Amino acid sequence: MRNLQQTLSGSVRLGSFAGLVLALAVTSYTTSTSLAHTLSTTLLGILIGFVVAETPLSGPFQELVGLVSRSPDKVGLDVLHGTLQEQRATDEDTDASSRLLDQRTMYGLQHAFLNLEVTGWWFNMGLWPDKSEQQQRTTRLPFRDACKALVRKVVHDIGINEQSSILDVGFGCGDQDVYMAQQYKPGKITGITIESIQHHAAEQLVKHSDVGDTKIALYVADASKLPEFLAAHPQVLGGATGTGEGKSFFTHVVSIDSAYHYRTRRQFLENAFRYLQPGGVGRLAMADMVLAKPAPTSAVGRWVFEKVFEAIQVPPTNMKSLAEYRHDLEEVGFQDIEIECVEERVFAGLADHIEAQLGQFGGLVKPNVHWTYRGLVRGLRWLAASGWIHFVVVKARRP
Ligand SMILES: C[S@@+](CC[C@H](N)C(=O)[O-])C[C@H]1O[C@@H](n2cnc3c(N)ncnc32)[C@H](O)[C@@H]1O
Repeated sequence: MRNLQQTLSGSVRLGSFAGLVLALAVTSYTTSTSLAHTLSTTLLGILIGFVVAETPLSGPFQELVGLVSRSPDKVGLDVLHGTLQEQRATDEDTDASSRLLDQRTMYGLQHAFLNLEVTGWWFNMGLWPDKSEQQQRTTRLPFRDACKALVRKVVHDIGINEQSSILDVGFGCGDQDVYMAQQYKPGKITGITIESIQHHAAEQLVKHSDVGDTKIALYVADASKLPEFLAAHPQVLGGATGTGEGKSFFTHVVSIDSAYHYRTRRQFLENAFRYLQPGGVGRLAMADMVLAKPAPTSAVGRWVFEKVFEAIQVPPTNMKSLAEYRHDLEEVGFQDIEIECVEERVFAGLADHIEAQLGQFGGLVKPNVHWTYRGLVRGLRWLAASGWIHFVVVKARRP
């Protein structure tokens, strides 16, 4: 089996090499005017083909462009490798460990695949242990626990009870709604997300979870178009076609690790205020991001700044300073505003987690996904070191 894989992989490499050289030679022959040009292009083709197919660069490159993918055995070896790396710290005989990894076997550890399980679709950046907590831990905090910790940080003290009607904006795949239902038992949660695939996953999750008496209704809708969404779904606030609850407000608007995406966040804050119950009852609670350093003012700096944020679907106008952010909340009408910066427990913790996942399971995902997460780790490490962004937990009340 292994030999067959090696033969196939060798053929793919040889084939891609020969194909590349042939394509370059034919293109050059049909488009060029001189023999010297054809020959030099063909030579260049041979050189590139050699790099792509026959040097140490060939593996990662071919994975990157999808010519080959890592075999299940490699996945198994990665899983084993993760375990062995821990052993190596105390293991004198590192050569023996390496020899073990190099063994060719019939089954290897490809059955790692059979043992993987998905326990949810959590999707926020998490609230990770601080340095002193981290030192006391003997194991890594699971991702879902870090995500739950962030949800708790945002909603634990905002008075959610059986009478509460929560609007959860940007609910991801619904894990936070199931969690809030189980922990705080609100009467109702209405969730909106812009992504229908996530909505589908969330519907399945809710269907198969015990959420007690909490009614959870999930929709695909844009946070930036809250009035249009509520007009199209009058039942959400107990309108004409609704359940007759007679409520025309939410008691809570929650948005976890999502509001920086809205077009615009300022408009979202205005709408949240409008649909929150007045009289000091309605509470806004968010996990969000703001600038910790001033945005660049030069033309080039501004251009780069805008391109970077647009690339990650964050309207640059949302990237405000803490003072501007607070000012927006005040101008909209919110009171009792609390903003806590927790970035020290967010970016580095998530980077560590992604790195550990890549080390153990990186072979399972397609190369482009692998490289995306590698890039994300770099970005998060840079954010943690540069102090450029505040990750904030925000709470406010409608008077
Ligand atoms: C980083 S995820 C966080 C998801 C979720 N809150 C969680 O903690 O698992 C950001 C979420 O915001 C949602 N989102 C982005 N723009 C949105 C918009 N304009 N309206 C509604 N949801 C949006 C995305 O679909 C995504 O699920």
